[in-house]
Amino acid sequence: MPDALTGLDLPQGVTLTHLQPTIGTEVAGLDLCTELDTETVAFLRSLWLRRKVLLFRDQPLSEEQHVRFGRYFGPLDALPRPSGSEQEWPELLVIKRDGSDNSESEAFFHQDVPYANPPVAGAIALMKKCPGIGGDTIIADMTAAYHRLSPWLKVAIEGMQGIHRFDLGIVLHNANVTEELIAKFMQKYPPKTYPLVQTHRETGEKVLYVSQSYTHAIKGLPRDESYALIKLLSDRARVPENQCRVSWQENTVVMWDNRSTQHYAAFDYPGHFRHLQRVTVLDTEPWPGTSL
Ligand code: SIN
Repeated sequence: MPDALTGLDLPQGVTLTHLQPTIGTEVAGLDLCTELDTETVAFLRSLWLRRKVLLFRDQPLSEEQHVRFGRYFGPLDALPRPSGSEQEWPELLVIKRDGSDNSESEAFFHQDVPYANPPVAGAIALMKKCPGIGGDTIIADMTAAYHRLSPWLKVAIEGMQGIHRFDLGIVLHNANVTEELIAKFMQKYPPKTYPLVQTHRETGEKVLYVSQSYTHAIKGLPRDESYALIKLLSDRARVPENQCRVSWQENTVVMWDNRSTQHYAAFDYPGHFRHLQRVTVLDTEPWPGTSL
């Protein structure tokens, strides 16, 4: 029998628990440590696009298994790193924090690499070590955020373009970032201009594509109006009806669609250690309608 919310036929043994009306589904009955057949991967891809966030418990993936699972969904990126931090699996991004040093965090709503075109399609994160309490990740549905705008605002922003850049955002959230790393990122991902309302290539849905961290300005607007509009629109990620919240356990895997969501890693675990590792899945085609 198809799943009532998504209409998808479930592979044998798979059950779904939906987290929120438009975003987030927990998937049980799959072992991601093993190779998956093409039907299962196709099912997961459809579910991921519809639900934007998928969560799987008890998946103690090795590094190799994590990379293999990521590659089912597209090519993996190796993000620029500081010199001397090379590792055996360049596709794996390791995020370790002890919760006491807030000079570096992901506690702000953002898309990954919003200046990239083709965009980052998504991320697949594995929790290796949870803090005793806290350390949740909040993920906002930016399609729902768009739909909840009032009609006049939708009309007002139609056709407007946001300028996204890495260097301005990162220094707000990462006091340890070096000039060298900023230069590497800026070389790989120069600033880009995109419509504030993007169309998702795979779903055709509209997405509110603006974040307070990385949207630097709105093209053609005076600075004060630009700032006010970026704040108004990016704050839609903070609306609870647009969100789901991931409470991690060790070996929880979460994959999110980076094109239609923004995420925020709560930094509320002083004295506790948190260790997450993730891969970054690239889209293979540019955003539709962009000339860059
Ligand atoms: C991130 O990838 O931005 C962080 C996700 C997390 O640590 O929960």
